[in-house]
Amino acid sequence: MIRVAILGATGYTAAELINILLRHPEVEIRVLTTRREERPHVREIHPRFTDRLDLRLENLPAEEVAPQCDCVFSCLPHRASALVAADYLRAGKRVVDFSADYRLLDVATFEKWYAVEHPDPARVGHTPYGLPELFADEIRAAQLVANPGCFPTLAILSLAPLLQNGLIEANDIIIDAKTGVSGAGRTPKPPFHFPECNESTMAYGVGQHRHTPEIDQLLGKAGGQKVSVVFTPHLTPMTRGMLATIYVRPSGSTTAETAMQTLREFYADKPFVRIVDHLPSTRYVSHTNFCDITVRQSGNRLVLLACIDNLIKGASGAAVQNFNLMHGFEETLALL
Ligand SMILES: NC(=O)c1ccc[n+]([C@@H]2O[C@H](COP(=O)([O-])OP(=O)(O)OC[C@H]3O[C@@H](n4cnc5c(N)ncnc54)[C@H](OP(=O)(O)O)[C@@H]3O)[C@@H](O)[C@H]2O)c1
Repeated sequence: MIRVAILGATGYTAAELINILLRHPEVEIRVLTTRREERPHVREIHPRFTDRLDLRLENLPAEEVAPQCDCVFSCLPHRASALVAADYLRAGKRVVDFSADYRLLDVATFEKWYAVEHPDPARVGHTPYGLPELFADEIRAAQLVANPGCFPTLAILSLAPLLQNGLIEANDIIIDAKTGVSGAGRTPKPPFHFPECNESTMAYGVGQHRHTPEIDQLLGKAGGQKVSVVFTPHLTPMTRGMLATIYVRPSGSTTAETAMQTLREFYADKPFVRIVDHLPSTRYVSHTNFCDITVRQSGNRLVLLACIDNLIKGASGAAVQNFNLMHGFEETLALL
């Protein structure tokens, strides 16, 4: 059994992670952390785990958590995560980091977009990006994996195979994406308060969203050429799920059919990416680790449509996929 610690266990991604790991036959959840001092029982924080997990959340430093576990899932915000990840790595633990701390390829880009000093700059650019469909070999060999952002997961899975095969123009990509409110986490913030976002849809972070450099850099790496996307996210009044509508310019004679065929071949042996004939809906992937993608023609553009559940394929499901690869387990264990 792999003994697991979950940092930031009061949050939304941690709750989904606990739910998945409770059905993982090779995992024992040993430690849940919080900054709270009162040692709440997990059922007080997440009532869904009543009678399923008998554990208290504790405010413990890394030196007390590390001896109790083999692998750490860090569900902390950026910077807070890198502040402790190094301690676990030094103690020989494997770490799956949910935050953006180790996703980007250089420190300057991180510090520019996140407006904080990086606490562990030496690992930036040397940490495998945890998108198993594209980087499985690096993930298998890794002690630390940077779990991808939710929007970048959608964008990279949709676009990388087409870029790799030269089917679309790399400098003319427009990503229009919608997300449910849980994408912002459990910590209350005014725009995500129910009266603010219910029965309303609005764009946010136009030209400034922090996932933009992640999409550009990692899509560039996966697709084999420099990429610069236009990315506009929208907040929609649903709890979970994301839909991306991606407008691309085909190269040469690429049609929707050839793009679909390329995607089908690329993902033929990838259990969690489904190239579908229907128009994807967040409903069809909700609470699952699937990413559904399709392609349509519209005027002189191809339109890619893709959906995931931001809390599963966009966070905790991907983390367990990475965990499985890092430990030599079947990639789908606990996820189907
Ligand atoms: N939500 C998503 O769809 C999604 C998708 C992909 C990636 N992510 C990433 O996953 C991580 C967790 O996201 P989430 O949505 O689960 O967030 P969340 O619901 O806000 O939970 C994060 C938890 O971290 C703890 N925390 C907050 N600030 C902290 C700090 N400065 N130092 C130490 N602990 C702190 C809090 O627990 P206590 O207050 O109990 O200490 C909080 O419950 C973030 O890095 C996020 O960017 C989220």
